[in-house]
Amino acid sequence: MNSALRREYLAALGIQAWVARGATALNVAIPAAASAVVARAAAAPAQPSDAPVPREGGADWPELRARVASCTRCTLCNTRTQTVFGVGSQSAEWLIVGEAPGADEDRQGEPFVGKAGQLLNSMLYAIGLKREQVYIANVLKCRPPGNRDPTASEAAECLPYLEQQIALLRPKLMLAVGRIAAQNLLRTNVTLGGLRQKVHRFGLMQVPLVATYHPAYLLRTPSEKGKAWEDLKFARQVCAGV
Ligand code: URA
Repeated sequence: MNSALRREYLAALGIQAWVARGATALNVAIPAAASAVVARAAAAPAQPSDAPVPREGGADWPELRARVASCTRCTLCNTRTQTVFGVGSQSAEWLIVGEAPGADEDRQGEPFVGKAGQLLNSMLYAIGLKREQVYIANVLKCRPPGNRDPTASEAAECLPYLEQQIALLRPKLMLAVGRIAAQNLLRTNVTLGGLRQKVHRFGLMQVPLVATYHPAYLLRTPSEKGKAWEDLKFARQVCAGV
């Protein structure tokens, strides 16, 4: 991406220049730091032998999509307009995981299509990724009424679908956006502040997972955008295997 275009995106984020201190341009050199900060989910050890066996094992993409579309495992099926399966490239290296569909997503059947989604797109673009290049999904496939937080049992019922998406996708990196997504994926109550800037591992495949702020939170709290930018650069280092 050329730097003028990237600056335009950063401006859209309300950030004048997302530049690492000491760097000269937006094409920031990636320091060899990520390997030093691999902290295997200190508060929430990566799923060891007690990891649940995915109940959706064996399904291919169309079969899995069909199972999700007809799911009645929890009461959210009574209030949803439709399920929100996920979107993006099935050969994506990055899997972005949010919390649950909101009103816009419930209506359109696609994750992150509202204002938060626009900011997510800009955040991705700022690190050189187009929305179509990544895969985007949520912990929950159905909208909780009134956008309330997912319950523990809703998350437990729905996670096998995400686990099977991960098995099919085999991403190089998972980016959990927001506290709810990160805590549910890592099975911890540690705050987002305590989870970010570390490499966690998810599931049987031990996929590297990085946590950052939810774009909806960043829209409400723009002063935190700088930290989100640090997290994105960190995630990019992790994905590059630095
Ligand atoms: N927030 C989320 O966490 N996911 C969406 O799909 C939309 C908003």
